[in-house]
Amino acid sequence: MRNVTLIPGDGIGPEVAYATRRLIDASGVEINWDVQEAGGYLIEKYGTPLPQSVLESIKRNGVALKGPITTPVGEGFRSVNVALRKEFDLFANIRPLKSYKGIETRYDNIDLVIIRENTEDLYAGIEYMAGDDVAQSIKIFTRKGCERIIRFAFEYARKEKRRKVTAVHKANIMKCTDGMFLNIARSISTEYPDIEFEDMIIDAMCMRLVQTPENYDVLVLPNLYGDIVSDLCAGLVGGLGVAPGANIGKDLAVFEPVHGSAPDIAGKNTANPTAMMLSGVHMLKYLGETSAANRIEKAIMKVLSEGNAKTRDLGGNAGTTEFTDRIISFL
Ligand code: NAI
Repeated sequence: MRNVTLIPGDGIGPEVAYATRRLIDASGVEINWDVQEAGGYLIEKYGTPLPQSVLESIKRNGVALKGPITTPVGEGFRSVNVALRKEFDLFANIRPLKSYKGIETRYDNIDLVIIRENTEDLYAGIEYMAGDDVAQSIKIFTRKGCERIIRFAFEYARKEKRRKVTAVHKANIMKCTDGMFLNIARSISTEYPDIEFEDMIIDAMCMRLVQTPENYDVLVLPNLYGDIVSDLCAGLVGGLGVAPGANIGKDLAVFEPVHGSAPDIAGKNTANPTAMMLSGVHMLKYLGETSAANRIEKAIMKVLSEGNAKTRDLGGNAGTTEFTDRIISFL
């Protein structure tokens, strides 16, 4: 029996988290779910959207499956999502994006993994006004930060039997920051002769992803480019409803969908739980439950390929619950 922290979150979070929990439980994998609440609705009670007990639970269990959490509006409250990444130094954000039969998009042959650095770059949050008319933001890259994300990408590629790593940068203009990222990528690539390596300037990368996404395999990017390119790629495979994600640190991992709490559809049983379920699939692989992970993914693919059994965002007419029931029936 494996302990996993389950954070349902808010908005559509509890609906997609419950659907995913049911699916994983139905697969036969034995998980003891340590359910923890986090979200803006706790501020009144605890004075914070992220109670200490949640952090302790993740520390204890080492693995968490997390639903989306609304970022509280107002001064003084940080985003729970950013706080978790910082607290546990979850430096690698992985977003695997695949074409699934039955989801209509421009391409049917995409199988990409985006590996985004999660802790540095312009997200270091050092911004200030230099006088009244000049706003400045500092872009920070460290050797340690570049090395660990690039090595992570190569190790991931090797473990997952991927053929190529593409390092994405703008080193022609930002010779210092992006230049260091590129030099480190070139140097580390020589330690992995079994994996093809190339680098690409971010603007060219965007064009090529839109024109020939099938040519790319694992992309490794600094934080800001990674943020933008992963949404671009989510769009290529069918949107936010099907984009899973994982935040990985040295000995700890938090799996979560890319999408937010979607307050516009919360509580209506219309949310698409696929992204959360696929995040659960990646969590099971991380836990070594590969066979259950593959069975669940196959069952999801089967239901996605059936016309009406999909949720509304994908053109079907099923609610969250019916969609989940149907997947479970194929396990
Ligand atoms: P969002 O991803 O929640 O929603 C964008 C659009 O996509 C909405 O129209 C929504 O209905 C739709 N959508 C999203 N997920 C869906 C799903 N599973 N099924 C069907 N439709 C789906 O982005 P938005 O509205 O910008 O953010 C809402 C809140 O979520 C904000 O407070 C934001 O800060 C937070 N957020 C949290 C994240 C996290 O917890 N990791 C990530 C992104 C945003």
